Amino acid sequence: MTPIFIIDRDRVERAIMDLGAIGACAGTGVSRTTFSPEWVAAQELVGQWCRDAGLAVRMDAVGNLWGRAEGSAGGKAIATGSHIDSQTPGGRYDGALGVIAGAIAARAVLEQAGPPKRPIEIVSLCEEEGSRFPSAGFWGSRGIIGTIAPEDPERIVGYDGVTIGEAMRAVGLDPARIPDAARDDLEVFLELHIEQGPMLEQAGTPVGVVTGITGIRELRVVVHGRADHAGARPIDLRQDPMDAAAAMIHAVIGVAKEMGRPAVTTVGRILVEPNFPNIVPERVEFTIDSRNPDPEARRQQYARQDALLREIAEAAGLEMTTEVFGALDPCPCDPEVVRVLEEAARAQNVPVMSMPSGAVHDSQQLAARSRIGMIFVQSKDGRSHTPAEFSAVEHCAQGIEVLAGALYRLAY
Ligand code: GLV
Ligand code: MN
Ligand code: MN
Repeated sequence: MTPIFIIDRDRVERAIMDLGAIGACAGTGVSRTTFSPEWVAAQELVGQWCRDAGLAVRMDAVGNLWGRAEGSAGGKAIATGSHIDSQTPGGRYDGALGVIAGAIAARAVLEQAGPPKRPIEIVSLCEEEGSRFPSAGFWGSRGIIGTIAPEDPERIVGYDGVTIGEAMRAVGLDPARIPDAARDDLEVFLELHIEQGPMLEQAGTPVGVVTGITGIRELRVVVHGRADHAGARPIDLRQDPMDAAAAMIHAVIGVAKEMGRPAVTTVGRILVEPNFPNIVPERVEFTIDSRNPDPEARRQQYARQDALLREIAEAAGLEMTTEVFGALDPCPCDPEVVRVLEEAARAQNVPVMSMPSGAVHDSQQLAARSRIGMIFVQSKDGRSHTPAEFSAVEHCAQGIEVLAGALYRLAY
C-alpha cells in the first residue's frame, strides 16, 4: 500500500518564519544575498533541519548544502530543493519554500516509510536570483552541471564590487575546487516553488504541476551621449541618451505587448550618468529581461527587439552597445515525472492544475543532467519579488504533500 503523507501545518509555518527571520527586512521582506552573513546563517539552519530529518549533511564546493539519505539499492539519487538566496528585498517564499519543502517532505517520507531504495537528497542551492552577482547565472545549479568556467570566479563582479570568487573565499569556499561540485548521479530533480503569478489563485487551485519553463534572455544596453547644460543647450542640439533610451524601452516592451501572452519584457534596472536634474546625461544603461516559452516566438521576439534598438540608436545618431548577460532556452519538464506528480497529487487528494512557468528556475539548469519536475504553490495576489509575497500555510503544506508522495513513488 502506498502511504498517504500528512504534513504538519505548524512545522511548515515555523520553518517559514524561522528561515524568513534570517535577513528579515521591510516588515515581511527578506534580503539574503549569496555568500553574505545571512546566507551563512540560513545554510546553517537548513543543515540543522537536515540533521533532524536523519540526513547526512555536507556543503559542496560551490556552496550548495546537501542532505542525503542512502538508498538500500544504491543507484542515482532522487533530489529535491531550491535556492536559499533572495531578491533585495524579496519575500519569505521565493526559493526558500522549496528548501523548506525538501527538508519537511524528506523527513515525513523517511519517518513514515523507513529507508528508501534509491538515495534521497535535498539541496539548498546557493544562488539563483542574481541579486548580488547579476551575471552569476544560477551559480549553484551550474556548479552541479559543471558549466562554471574557470575564469568565472574572478570575472563575475557583484553590485558591491566584490568578485564571486572573493565572496566564496570569505565564507571558506575555494573557487579552485568548483569542479568538485559537479554531479552525474542525480536521476530526478524535483523543485517546489511558489507560482509568483496569479494563475492558480484565479483558478482557485492550491497547487500546480509545471509542464515546462519559459526561455529568457537578459540584455544590458548602454546608450552613449554627451553631457550638456539642461537649460542652455537647445533641444535640437543635444546628444541625449535618455531620449533614445526612453524610446527604446517603450519599443521593446511594446513588442511583448503586441505579441501578447505569454511573451513578457521587463526593463527593471536603469543607470544614468551623471544622474542630476539639470544635466543632459552622458550615458544611460538599462537591462532588458525578455521571455517567451515558445522557441520560435522567442527568436522572433528578440529579433524584433534588437532591430528596434538599432533603428532608434541610428535615428538618434548615438552609439549603443549591448551585451547578453544571461540566457536560457525554454525547458520542458520530464513527462514521466509530470505523470508521477499528478498521480501523487491525486493520491494525496490535492487539487492541481497543469501550467507553464513564466519564471526561470534552477530546474532549467539541472535538466541538463537529470529528469526534472516542478510543483507550484499558489501565490497570494500573484505577488513575488517583493516583501508582499505570501502563500497560505495550507497551500504550502498541500504542495509539500504532493512532493512527499512523488519522492516516495520515485525512491521506494
Ligand atoms: C527568477 O527569479 C526569475 O526572475 O524568474
Ligand atoms: Mn526562485
Ligand atoms: Mn526569484
